[in-house]
Amino acid sequence: MRKPNMMEAKKRTRAEIKVIRDAYIVPSSINNIGIDKKYFLRTYGCQMNVHDSENIKGELEELGYTEIDNYEDADLIIINTCAIRENAHNKVFGFLGRLKHLKKQKPNILVGLCGCMAQEEAVVNEIIDKYQWLDFVFGTHNIHELPQILKQHLDLKQLIVEVPSNEGNIYENIPVKRDHPFKAWVNIMYGCDKFCTYCIVPYTRGKQRSRRPEDIINEVKDLIKKGYLEVTLLGQNVNAYGKDFTGLDYNMATLLKDISKLPIKRIRFLTSHPWDFTKEMILVIKNNSNIMPHFHLPIQAGSNKVLKLMGRRYTKESYLELYQKIKQAIPGASITTDIIVGFPNETEVDFKETLDIVNKCKFDSAFTFIYSPREGTGAARIVDIVDIKEKEARLQTLNQLINKYTLESNQKLMNKMVPVLIEGKSARNEALLVGYTDTFKLVNIKGDSSLIGKIVDVKITEVKTWCLYGEVNNGKN
Ligand code: SAH
Ligand code: SF4
Ligand code: F3S
Repeated sequence: MRKPNMMEAKKRTRAEIKVIRDAYIVPSSINNIGIDKKYFLRTYGCQMNVHDSENIKGELEELGYTEIDNYEDADLIIINTCAIRENAHNKVFGFLGRLKHLKKQKPNILVGLCGCMAQEEAVVNEIIDKYQWLDFVFGTHNIHELPQILKQHLDLKQLIVEVPSNEGNIYENIPVKRDHPFKAWVNIMYGCDKFCTYCIVPYTRGKQRSRRPEDIINEVKDLIKKGYLEVTLLGQNVNAYGKDFTGLDYNMATLLKDISKLPIKRIRFLTSHPWDFTKEMILVIKNNSNIMPHFHLPIQAGSNKVLKLMGRRYTKESYLELYQKIKQAIPGASITTDIIVGFPNETEVDFKETLDIVNKCKFDSAFTFIYSPREGTGAARIVDIVDIKEKEARLQTLNQLINKYTLESNQKLMNKMVPVLIEGKSARNEALLVGYTDTFKLVNIKGDSSLIGKIVDVKITEVKTWCLYGEVNNGKN
């Protein structure tokens, strides 16, 4: 048994980051255990978790399992969890309640839990205490060990907990089953060393580790061969890419430049911390038309006092300066953000500063959250006197303002032609196709399904806050 430990997870030493290429091993005794069996995988959290789930699916399918989307019929159920806010926790524990019931009716099914919650000491203690009916728990650092963990469980027939909380290595060559045929997630780095005071990620994901440029480039080349049109480069703070290399002068701007030379139609990247965003990056993006003009640039708060307490290392003014530099260099660019309201002891004046920066930046859209204390983080120790009702009211005020600007920015596209990668049919309306613009806006399109998998020019005919509507210009396509 390996249990996570918050003190260990917090450590950042100079230990060398190893790139391990042969860690994924399937014990021969289980290499067919999934034949004729079905698995259900539920994923919470960010794109990184979504991509981890693609690796888990890859592993399970190599063992012979087939994916289904109804957990009640599955032989194996895995929950890939997120720890970012309390409500993410609550959803997982709610689902576990239902699974306990199912397991009573069907004792032979296997149920496992992984992801960021599994890296939390308190969660694992609770599982060992109250969830002995679970079959296995593994963490974010050992996804490649899933076959061995399954074997351990089958041999011992008891709850297996294997959650190391080391700083982390890089594991290459883990199987992957991608969710989408045209657009792919590509990890460029793991972990985070920023330790923003509210955030659990540096504890659940370990230290910052950048993948070697050649591994990333080879992955993108392989995706191109398989017909992929779009890659999204993933990291908690992609602008810091390469800062952990020793003896290699290679950064996010160099990586973007090298990837943009490949024949890939669309390159996106997530997430950018405003602190590490360089002039070189802006130049590379401006000069390469296959890097999409969309920047997700979380501001978190508008008050310099709060930003400082959050440990964000920039000010409202320096954020605004960066924002303007991007908009000047790339005029049609869209900029989206994340905002937290109700950081401990945020005052009405602090909150007005947040509204003020929103009024200045007029974001294309934003994810907004009420601050949620995470055990073990710095901010969780602050005694907070602000009432939750007040925080909820602030969130509502903020959302109204955000929505106003989202609609305004969408209205600018009315009657314009925009490039859209058509991804498939709309889930809500079979007659419509859906896709994203270069600026990452969702469009519903009237058009023939033969357009799926193509990038086409679409004329925007109607705009709403949450999406656009458009028509394909048949003359041109
Ligand atoms: N690495 C990214 C953010 C990843 S987490 C960055 O630094 O920008 C995604 C978002 O969740 C954050 O941008 C933040 O707005 C929100 N978030 C993180 N921790 C939170 C907490 N404790 N309470 C509320 N929101 C939080
Ligand atoms: Fe969390 Fe900050 Fe790291 Fe983003 S940069 S993952 S908010 S600690
Ligand atoms: Fe959640 Fe972990 Fe992502 S905490 S947001 S799944 S890195």
